[in-house]
Amino acid sequence: MERNYEYHLPVLLTEAISYLITDKNGIYVDGTLGGGGHSQKILEALSDDGKLISFDKDIDAINHCSIKLAKYMAPSVHKFVPRNESFSKACSVAEEWGLINGFLLDLGVSSKHFDNESGGFSYRTNSHLDMRFFPEGKTAEELINSATEEELERIFRIYGEEKFSRKIARRIYSVRRGKALQTTYDLRDAVISALPPINPYDTLSRVFQAIRIVINNELSELELAIKKIIPALAIGGRIVIISYHSLEDRIVKNLFKEHSEPKQHINKYRYENYISNSVPSLRILTKNPIIPPRKEQAINSRSRSAKMRIAERSV
Ligand SMILES: C[S@@+](CC[C@H](N)C(=O)[O-])C[C@H]1O[C@@H](n2cnc3c(N)ncnc32)[C@H](O)[C@@H]1O
Repeated sequence: MERNYEYHLPVLLTEAISYLITDKNGIYVDGTLGGGGHSQKILEALSDDGKLISFDKDIDAINHCSIKLAKYMAPSVHKFVPRNESFSKACSVAEEWGLINGFLLDLGVSSKHFDNESGGFSYRTNSHLDMRFFPEGKTAEELINSATEEELERIFRIYGEEKFSRKIARRIYSVRRGKALQTTYDLRDAVISALPPINPYDTLSRVFQAIRIVINNELSELELAIKKIIPALAIGGRIVIISYHSLEDRIVKNLFKEHSEPKQHINKYRYENYISNSVPSLRILTKNPIIPPRKEQAINSRSRSAKMRIAERSV
């Protein structure tokens, strides 16, 4: 159901679009449509011959943007195509529309996920522990009540980088022996009761984030998407990725690096080395990630952890 609220304040909006668009008549993909802030800017920048295909796993985002950006979807214009699919399938765009000139990812959740009282993403409102972007696979409730204590500890430590991981895992394990944790408040209360008397909000954010990352396979989806999109890019086509978590940023940095080095093949019969042009390669345009200017960080607290990396296909 369409809701009437401020959906999401886009991060690094001007910077992302100016790096992304190299040809106003080109084919572009926004892998994380959300509230459509970035998609709208892309559509405004493209000519009538350009095209934008935007993905989101969350049907609410698709519905919201199908209304917000309806004028770009009219049959006479047909400039904007929303898709309720994972961005790891975005390479299919190349088969349908031609090689891609720009691929944008603005990872994680939108503000709407936290404001939504039914998704289970926030410890601030009480709802079923779901946390899935797409109604498929394990819910957070199933994970929390079935994982071993060691698995829980690992999730909080690796994906949440949480120093009280062991205590929290132990407490959840003991609470759920009495009664399964079913709601966000059940989880919130279990976490708080495991902590010493400190402000619990940062820990709660890290624990909820860790579970969300696991439930939605966020890191493996990211890795898959980057690997599959490289051969689907036109020469000179760009990948722009905004991440909010150190593990995401590491994946982007390492994959860009791995694919930017020329692959040297050795012909063992002729004993000669040559650089194969058949392997698509990237040129990294950001040695260090771009972070939002202070002014933006002051207005939009979510932008404070953002890092943007850009690469372009060179061969
Ligand atoms: C930070 S928001 C994007 C905000 C958007 N750039 C804007 O301007 O409003 C991230 C969005 O990506 C979606 N998402 C997360 N993982 C996804 C995936 N693997 N495939 C498709 N969409 C995904 C979420 O549902 C969320 O709507």
